[in-house]
Amino acid sequence: MSEFDNIPNIYIMDHPLIQHKITQIRNKNTGTQQFRKCIEEIATLMGYEALRDLPLADIDVETPIEKCKSPVISGKKLAIVPILRAGLGMVSGIEALVPTAKVGHIGLYRDPETHKPVEYYCKLPAPIEQRTILVVDPMLATGGSGSDAVAQIKAHGGRHIKFMCIIAAPEGLKKLHEDHPDIQIYVGHLDRCLNENAYICPGLGDAGDRIFGTK
Ligand code: PRP
Ligand code: URA
Repeated sequence: MSEFDNIPNIYIMDHPLIQHKITQIRNKNTGTQQFRKCIEEIATLMGYEALRDLPLADIDVETPIEKCKSPVISGKKLAIVPILRAGLGMVSGIEALVPTAKVGHIGLYRDPETHKPVEYYCKLPAPIEQRTILVVDPMLATGGSGSDAVAQIKAHGGRHIKFMCIIAAPEGLKKLHEDHPDIQIYVGHLDRCLNENAYICPGLGDAGDRIFGTK
């Protein structure tokens, strides 16, 4: 049970496979290769849930037995938008589900002193207003980066936005939902709190550093 139960547009995962893999990435002894693999696999598992309302349209198809109508994903399809850097680790996991998805990028980093997001890049696939947009970032801590990224996408015309993170702090989830109540937010696990450096507890440390082997 949490304060976010039964709140529209907030979906906190409880699938055992997702929880198992999150435990692996929390472990400080999990190395870069295994960490990346788990991030990718969690993204696929969460993506399966987050994309369950993609629009469908019937097409004609001929089976070895007869002709029939059968559904395919319709419309302008999906845009995956990772928040750089750490969101990049989740892209291939979603591409495994939707290989035709376009990919945009939003560059943000947290100022180490203020913990506020600093924008440095934004490139989104056109026509962004017609796409379902899946923003991905493993970590939702203060919520500053996620909220800023969604605001940038809206400013470029994006309307059908979903946000997917692997670990969230209650503070960040509250902020993202209050700033953008219209978007669907998918959370792999809701953690306890932020520490004095705005890191998630127990969390997994710095996601970007662990994915890319920096630091
Ligand atoms: C991390 C993470 C999120 C952000 C979350 O990125 O990937 O984007 O922090 O924190 P917030 O919710 O308090 O904004 P970071 O700023 O470390 O940049 P990096 O991915 O380039 O390392
Ligand atoms: N960014 C991370 O990578 N980890 C945290 O715990 C908070 C922000």
